[in-house]
Amino acid sequence: MKMQSLQGITIVAAIATLLVTAGTAQAQRAHTLYASKCAGCHANDGSGNTSMGQMMHIPSFKSPAVQKMTNAKLRVMIANGKAPMPAFKGQLTNTQIGELVQYVRTLAKRK
Ligand code: HEC
Repeated sequence: MKMQSLQGITIVAAIATLLVTAGTAQAQRAHTLYASKCAGCHANDGSGNTSMGQMMHIPSFKSPAVQKMTNAKLRVMIANGKAPMPAFKGQLTNTQIGELVQYVRTLAKRK
């Protein structure tokens, strides 16, 4: 009985570790993608504080306008773009776009 519950705990811990590792790998992938495709306009911190961003008046990911957007809207924005932002659906998979939506949310929360 005792052994069994110990095994149970070990299995739960192993699964938890796997999930955390997978989450970190995903965040890392999104970070790399963002840095190569998005940061040039949106800045590393999502503030839009780049010369491109200032020229195009890009709102910060922290702004209320962006906070109000649903994940579905963010997805459409990244997939279809909105001039002058290019569409990314030809370059990115649905999974990558989903990961970028999560990443945008992370940047929006970061102080
Ligand atoms: C050429 C510059 C440029 C690049 C590159 C770019 N964007 Fe944008 N992005 C814009 C502009 C400009 C807007 C504002 C469009 C509008 O609302 O008129 C925008 C808007 C957005 C929005 C809506 C929220 C907001 O801040 O207005 C999201 C989300 C977004 N971009 C994500 C991304 C992601 C993710 C990438 C990389 C895959 C990316 N963008 C690449 C220029 C760019």
